[in-house]
Amino acid sequence: MSSFKRNSTLKALLLGGVVLGCASAAQAQPTAEVLHYWTSGGEAKAVKALKEDFEANGGKWVDAPVAGGGGDAQNAVLRSRVLSGDAPAAVQIKGPNIRNWAEAGALADLDAIGKEEGWDDILPPLLQDIVKFDGHYVAVPVNIHRVDWIWANPEVLAKVGADVPTTWAEFNETAEKLKAAGITPLAHGGQPWQDATIFETVVLGIGGADFFNKAFVDRDLDTLRSDTMKKVFDQMRIIRGFVDDDFSGRDWNLATAMVMNGKAGMQIMGDWAKGEFLAAGKKPGVDFVCAPTPSEGGYILNSDSFAMFDVKGDDNKSGQALLAKLILGEKFQETFNVYKGSIPARMGVAKAKFDDCAIKSMNDLEAASSKGTLVGSAAHEISTAGAVRGAIMDVVTEHFNSDMSSDDAVNKLAEAIELAL
Ligand code: GAL
Repeated sequence: MSSFKRNSTLKALLLGGVVLGCASAAQAQPTAEVLHYWTSGGEAKAVKALKEDFEANGGKWVDAPVAGGGGDAQNAVLRSRVLSGDAPAAVQIKGPNIRNWAEAGALADLDAIGKEEGWDDILPPLLQDIVKFDGHYVAVPVNIHRVDWIWANPEVLAKVGADVPTTWAEFNETAEKLKAAGITPLAHGGQPWQDATIFETVVLGIGGADFFNKAFVDRDLDTLRSDTMKKVFDQMRIIRGFVDDDFSGRDWNLATAMVMNGKAGMQIMGDWAKGEFLAAGKKPGVDFVCAPTPSEGGYILNSDSFAMFDVKGDDNKSGQALLAKLILGEKFQETFNVYKGSIPARMGVAKAKFDDCAIKSMNDLEAASSKGTLVGSAAHEISTAGAVRGAIMDVVTEHFNSDMSSDDAVNKLAEAIELAL
């Protein structure tokens, strides 16, 4: 029997609420307080689509946004709310955090609705692994984001006769040309999760998928201290020279706006950045171009999910049931992911509405899955979370904001991760 709470009331309500259709007048209105951190242009448009779908189906949405990309601010709010016995009904979390909350007995059991909606048939096994605990559904995946992207302004690159780089040597060459032309080569926000986002794309690019997993999943100390990891920090030192003087603390979407407005040539960021371009009416392939960061067919996966916390009240429980059902609805999966810049969590969603960047993500995901070059994001809490992720971010950010040598960086990284285990 799993250690997380199998909430029999919720199970009954989920079955009752979903299988028997609309609630009778006597039943409370399905209500959900939703904790999330989707507050930028593209993110807000995507979460609004979920809110509108929920309300159109009779739900009462209680919005609980926590500003701060990457989710660290939200994680702090969530911990304090659960510890004070005031958990929100639905929370945007992912990766090992889902397992950790399930182990703590904080999550509701979604098996009934998963069975009712056929989740085993419409979700790829890699997502089922993320949202199941002990074989039971405890969260609902909403998307698949790719982290390892370069977003570039083609007009800016053309000023120096450059194309989007396909190797790190080309990246450095292009960046040097932009810098010489007085153009900020790389738009960046100096926040730990953003530094770690660039870092993990370089780890994948220079070390490869097996190296990435040995470092972040196996936490192999020799790998963390290896000459290859030193080469990663050498490249991070070079990249540090390509950001503008005001990068520190900048929000990721403001960095995206720099590329959009021609103030910078490129940004290395997950494809939630595409949501910003699209929300501003920019056209892929015209106003911006997308290309994977240089690697041997790698793909860094980040998937957002909603976990349903154990809450009281029939209205909250029926709200969770309705939300869980809507999130994996075929039409919603199309609408939400077009806005969010991600690709559907649900298999078989029509591709017609998705642009070339999304189609490339779908194709590359399939190729990477079969070649074994698909990895879970460390910066975005798929392959790591908690103290290990914190250790990685601390060392990478300290290196990025100092003159720390690569030799010192790899030793600090190994020591910090060893302490975090
Ligand atoms: C990621 C999250 C994305 C996006 C990004 C920026 O961790 O998975 O959905 O929100 O942060 O906030």
